[in-house]
Amino acid sequence: MKYGFFDDANREYVITSPRTPYPWINYLGSEGFFSLISNTAGGYCFYKDARLRRILRYRYNNVPIDMGGRYFYINDNDSDEIWNPGWSPCKTSLDSYECRHGMGYTRITGSKFDLEASVLFFVPVGLDAEVQKLTLKNNGSAPKKIKLFSFVEWCLWDAMDDSSNFQRNFSIGEVEIDNSTIYHKTEYKERRDHYAFYSVNAPINGFDTSRDDFIGLYNGFDAPDVVMSGKPKNSVADGWAPIASHYIEVELAPNESKDFVFVLGYIENEFNEKFAPDIGASGTPHPTTSGGRTQNIVNKKRAHELIAKCDTSEKADKLLAELRAHWDELLSIYTVNSPDEKLNRMVNIWNQYQCMVTFNLSRSASYFESGIGRGMGFRDSNQDILGFVHQIPSRARQRILDLASTMLRDGGAYHQYQPLTKKGNHELGSNFNDDPLWMILSTAAYIKETGDVAILDEVVPYENKEELNASLLDHCKRAFNHVITKVGPHGLPLIGRADWNDCLNLNCFSATSGQSFQTTEGKDGKVAESIMIATMFAFIGPEYAKMCRIKGDETEALRAESEIAKMNEIVLKHGWDGEWFLRAYDDFGKKVGSKDNEEGKIFIEPQGFAVMANLGDTEKTLDSVDKWLNSDHGLVLNQPAFTRYILEYGEISTYPPGYKENAGVFCHNNAWLICAAAHVGRGDKAFEYYSKIAPAFREDFSELNKTEPYVYAQMIAGKDAGRHGESKNSWLTGTAAWNFAAVSQYILGIAPDYDGLVIDPSIPKDWDGFTAERTFRGAKYNITVKNPNKVSKGVKSLTVNGKAIEGNKIPAMASGEHEVEVILG
Ligand code: BGC
Ligand code: NOJ
Repeated sequence: MKYGFFDDANREYVITSPRTPYPWINYLGSEGFFSLISNTAGGYCFYKDARLRRILRYRYNNVPIDMGGRYFYINDNDSDEIWNPGWSPCKTSLDSYECRHGMGYTRITGSKFDLEASVLFFVPVGLDAEVQKLTLKNNGSAPKKIKLFSFVEWCLWDAMDDSSNFQRNFSIGEVEIDNSTIYHKTEYKERRDHYAFYSVNAPINGFDTSRDDFIGLYNGFDAPDVVMSGKPKNSVADGWAPIASHYIEVELAPNESKDFVFVLGYIENEFNEKFAPDIGASGTPHPTTSGGRTQNIVNKKRAHELIAKCDTSEKADKLLAELRAHWDELLSIYTVNSPDEKLNRMVNIWNQYQCMVTFNLSRSASYFESGIGRGMGFRDSNQDILGFVHQIPSRARQRILDLASTMLRDGGAYHQYQPLTKKGNHELGSNFNDDPLWMILSTAAYIKETGDVAILDEVVPYENKEELNASLLDHCKRAFNHVITKVGPHGLPLIGRADWNDCLNLNCFSATSGQSFQTTEGKDGKVAESIMIATMFAFIGPEYAKMCRIKGDETEALRAESEIAKMNEIVLKHGWDGEWFLRAYDDFGKKVGSKDNEEGKIFIEPQGFAVMANLGDTEKTLDSVDKWLNSDHGLVLNQPAFTRYILEYGEISTYPPGYKENAGVFCHNNAWLICAAAHVGRGDKAFEYYSKIAPAFREDFSELNKTEPYVYAQMIAGKDAGRHGESKNSWLTGTAAWNFAAVSQYILGIAPDYDGLVIDPSIPKDWDGFTAERTFRGAKYNITVKNPNKVSKGVKSLTVNGKAIEGNKIPAMASGEHEVEVILG
């Protein structure tokens, strides 16, 4: 069953029923101000850091699940029934409902009693504000008198403290009301230099800023006291829970429509310019303040400037047009026209869009990530670059340098850093031994995309300390050496706290509930080895050697290659289990992921990297993966699933079979097998794996899939689960970047390399071919791939502007448009 449809021409998913199987959300904003917005306008906003600068309050795991957001309440002609354009929270049945999630904007339209209310929500490019343009239209034949109430609930900034420290927080809330703008200024008089505001470009007939007055202590969001009685209380919050609600009386003649532009903004002021003169000083405006206090009046200059940029319908429309143009440009860099409509919409629109969101937010704030627990992950952010670097390379460059600055001198890294400070997070520390390799991979991806080899000479600190400055290439060198110097009894890389699989905790041995599996270290870590890191090394290590060669350091390139060859030998000797690669050796030196194990005989993670690196028997490896791990909904992580807790394995065995890292379909690592299958020419298999997890292909059974049909989820419940096929944890997952790499570079086979653009598709045999447009280093390539002999892979001929080229790499050209024809066969 579907709950909407794709409108590809507008790059929108159109939701036609508000009762989606789970809230289906969108993200607004991509630099400073971010909003999460569900299909019923639930969600919240924050500035850069979802924990420390939370602007709106949101209660996770609520009942009903999605309560709290930016709501417009409508009372039309003093009817008993109040309603919202997005149906919730009143849940009054509407005559029509539609939510269009687009690129950085959401438009929610509802109608009732011949009144249509449509709200366009977006964060304009370069502004720290959510603009909400509300259009009310009288479609009836009689005039209307409408009572309109806006509503948002402020968070007292630190979302963690806000949801726990009530003894303090119930006394600190402060607001100011100045004409049609409501200011939230809790803690502004002391150590904060930021405030938020909510304004509307029309005179108001009243307001409320105290939640308990607006809603009533014993009511819910669905029946706020003020809205039910049709009268604002003009409440001025003083402690408790500050909110912002405007009350506007609107009259509409038949067929008349009116627009209102609401702006929810965030302002930072310089320390010396924080305050306006106290009330009473001559010539100062007189805002209404909490407790009637006359001091610490907010300097509103910047708020006025911000509001002035979006205070008319025309300005809002122009800002939306700019946002659309911005996305037109971003999405024109890579487009495909293949025989598969679903693949096209994933590649051209939604997968790339999700890559931007994961790049921006790492794993911090979604409807599954509460925004308080996680900063920017080192491994996560490095991988996110793979799907984003072509969009805005300069931002990827900065991110790489930020990440490198949190590396340690031994080549390891702080596992996370905070986006506001960009400093490594001490609480979590380091010792996740896959981390260093992702740094090499993201740097390589950046250079391949841009040709900007100079990044390797950039001077970046270790441990965020300037006295420990060294070149980025030196950081890559130490990352490389980290793998080969921290080895265990077999000469394989030590796993540390965990490698990519955070839940395979071979040094933890936790028998105490509540302990963190990621940071508890029960063992000294000198025995447990990761074959996944070893196969990653086989795949990623050569990139370091290539970078050295590009920089003219042949000696170092040769050293690197000989270390890789040595490690590969060790992997083939101690890491091969006869039909697939082992996963690890545990702290007792026992095999993990072997036919000899009762459960967890085979794991997905090492297999894909080994195949991509041409290591060992690639055909046998892929056959084993297909035989053991394939299911109707994608490849599960391991088989058989663990049914009991295994002290020496850790968190992986805590999950019920089929969920998360215990035999769930982890969509992130499915991409590695899509790449691997494509790499060896199994184009049909690659497409099969791809289409099982790509969300647009799952739209038809949305009631089972549950999460949004336009974005990947981290996990689909595996075949051992009670709810096989159900997705969880949508949006913020490395799945986005890796699947974009898999489909764009491996299936469609258009892959940037250091010295050109490689064209090496690996497609389903029944495709006649496809066309694609790719802008690469300033030139545009119009690529036509023809498949007359119905093969999957193999470039028989390649011409650029009619001239034949040897091999399958187009040399990078300075500019212009180029016609590329590829014949497979
Ligand atoms: C999850 C992992 C995640 C880790 C992060 C675990 O509970 O299962 O997917 O990477 O937490 O801390
Ligand atoms: C999610 C984490 O964000 C990521 O770092 C990890 O690799 C996967 N889970 C697998 O455990």
